[in-house]
Amino acid sequence: MRIGVFDSGIGGEAVAESLRHDFPAAEVITVSDREHVPYGDRDPGEIIHLADAAIQPLLSSDCDVIVVACNTVTAVAIETLRTKYPNQKFIGLEPMVKPASTLSKTGIIAVCATPATLASKRYTQSKQLYASGLTVVEPDCSNWARLIESNELNRSHIDTVVEECLAANADVIILGCTHYHWIKEEIEEALAGHAVLVEPSEAISRRVKELLSL
Ligand code: DGL
Repeated sequence: MRIGVFDSGIGGEAVAESLRHDFPAAEVITVSDREHVPYGDRDPGEIIHLADAAIQPLLSSDCDVIVVACNTVTAVAIETLRTKYPNQKFIGLEPMVKPASTLSKTGIIAVCATPATLASKRYTQSKQLYASGLTVVEPDCSNWARLIESNELNRSHIDTVVEECLAANADVIILGCTHYHWIKEEIEEALAGHAVLVEPSEAISRRVKELLSL
């Protein structure tokens, strides 16, 4: 089995690591777009164009499935990619608003994601569908992907966002960008048990199994 993983940058490696753990016999190949990362502050047309060009090596590698390990690309481009490549199976990643809404006791959840994800129609619809009775806090993480790429994101960046979420009484924090998977432990440390962190690694593996009937 061959699983292709695409992200604008190093977020894809975090997802690939988890897939390699869950599917040790699979060949997991990754593609990123280091030249154009970050995508999160670009406009949708540009993201679609860049993602389409960047996934070409995966499309020609006969992948059983391509995991779009990027919330930003899923939010704005997955429908276009599915329409353009109908014979290729894709799995997209979206901020986990539905599970967060059932987990929350305060009725306040926080979504950490890129500006393009937060501005997307797909994300807005998912909030309308699953979080209409909740308050959704969207802290400013707009420079996080860039800082994580260059290994410059530090604890004070994390503390600022965590403090905003906790001050708003959010009890579930969604990691809505795969770059942030690399700082999951630091975020959890900063949360100190005051809120739960949700991220999609397990859900992606479940979806791979379903889609490929494993
Ligand atoms: N890792 C990507 C995501 O999950 C986006 C990072 C970026 O290119 O801005 O949204």
